[in-house]
Amino acid sequence: MRWTFVTGSPATAKTEGLAVGVFDDLDFARLPGAKALKAEAERLRFKGGAGESFFAFNLAGKPAKHLLVVGLGGRKAFSPGSLRAAAALAARRFRERFLQNAALAFPLGEDTAPARWAAAQAVVEGAMLGNARCTRFKTEESAKFEGLALLQVFVPAKDGALEEGGKLGQIMAEATLFARALVTEPANALTPERMAEEAKKVAKEGGLSIEVLGPKECARLGMGAYLAVAKGSKNEPRFIHLSYRPRGAKFHLGLVGKGLTFDSGGISIKSSDGMGAMKSDMSGSAAVLGAMKAIGVLKPKVAVDAVMAMAENMPGGGAYRPGDILTSMNGKTVEVLNTDAEGRLTLADALTYIQRQKVDAVIDLATLTGACVVALGPDFSGAMGNDQPLMDEILAAARESGDELWQLPLPPAYKKYIKSDVADVANISRIRWGGALTAGLFLQNFIAEGMPWVHLDIAGPALRDDDGSDAHKGEGSGVGVRTLVRFVLGKG
Ligand code: BES
Ligand code: MN
Ligand code: ZN
Repeated sequence: MRWTFVTGSPATAKTEGLAVGVFDDLDFARLPGAKALKAEAERLRFKGGAGESFFAFNLAGKPAKHLLVVGLGGRKAFSPGSLRAAAALAARRFRERFLQNAALAFPLGEDTAPARWAAAQAVVEGAMLGNARCTRFKTEESAKFEGLALLQVFVPAKDGALEEGGKLGQIMAEATLFARALVTEPANALTPERMAEEAKKVAKEGGLSIEVLGPKECARLGMGAYLAVAKGSKNEPRFIHLSYRPRGAKFHLGLVGKGLTFDSGGISIKSSDGMGAMKSDMSGSAAVLGAMKAIGVLKPKVAVDAVMAMAENMPGGGAYRPGDILTSMNGKTVEVLNTDAEGRLTLADALTYIQRQKVDAVIDLATLTGACVVALGPDFSGAMGNDQPLMDEILAAARESGDELWQLPLPPAYKKYIKSDVADVANISRIRWGGALTAGLFLQNFIAEGMPWVHLDIAGPALRDDDGSDAHKGEGSGVGVRTLVRFVLGKG
């Protein structure tokens, strides 16, 4: 989708579709055909709330063939977030009608430069995300519809802040859509090796360096925990290391993404109900790779190393078993009590590896526990960490980006639940409760004293089973990409 900012009156817009934004005070005054629109809104019990919309037919003064009225919610709560959601909704509704060009008339650009910048970003980002669907695996012509090809965005006057904001919105959306496509791809298409190929493309485009380690090289590095998880699958593991080291960087970030291309549970096999959703168990690595794609374009003055320990958790003849004791890369031993708690084993070695890159802080993203979904539901990710200032920066980046994130504790008193009788630590808790926290505490075993670290459990939002504000049912959400990029930009 191409987008462009335009000035002038929406009433004369040359476009198939026009979306106009209306607050919940239902002030239609500035709109074409205001009286008829207002009556139609009343008839439909349209209140102007966020998420509400209606198409208006045959109204006097109607400028475009398809006029869409979109609720913006309350004026006081109006934010880039409301604009992002309204733009996404508009794009989604135009898509239902197979429109190829449309315009948005939302209130933006009437404020200070930073606010204009943020508003422009939100509108472009939201529209691009609402518009795009993963149609790769559809073959019917109508299902392959590409959505809007051109979007005009009405602004009071064109200026640099708007243009800059719009460009950032596009980069954020493209990186998010890239991550979404990877998550949506099933495990028979997206193997660890394919993910490595994707990473090589990202590296090439962005001028990043890349190293891909196979099982032999990982064994040489002593990655006994990660390799054990990978052993039960015919699809070989690939450990991907991307690196962006600009001159003059004052901060060096380490990123880690969980990369299970499929999680059957292994010998502790999952029930078949919804097992297909476990194609999304590489969403952490998709978020990290998506963020690196944006970083390659934006070139911030921040060094970033990113690692993805890609593997497939399968119950093949070579599979690791309950009872096995593994030696991880940092020398600690782990007793495997459940082979379905595999993500933390792959992350253990990835966390050790990333800290050897001499980073200043580590962020990991992982679809780690069903317990986190029980705690926070399908929209929120959980955040745990050992450094409140870093945590606060990440929470702020998430808030601005539109990813929903909520801090959870890492209670030292719960460490007793992952004690092992025979090894340094067990891979599951002795009790049923607080599983997101005991998973976080397990990871902390592999974080050096004094290394600022935040763990994001994205199990809830990674794959949508209903529509989100700018995401689509049945697809990956790309959660985490925008939070990471925003965080990195804040450091540069
Ligand atoms: N990949 C799953 C977690 C998951 C669950 C992600 C639901 C997305 C949606 C993870 O590897 C897993 O199986 N976790 C187990 C841990 C348990 C065995 C301690 C879980 O949450 O049940
Ligand atoms: Mn699992
Ligand atoms: Zn898993």
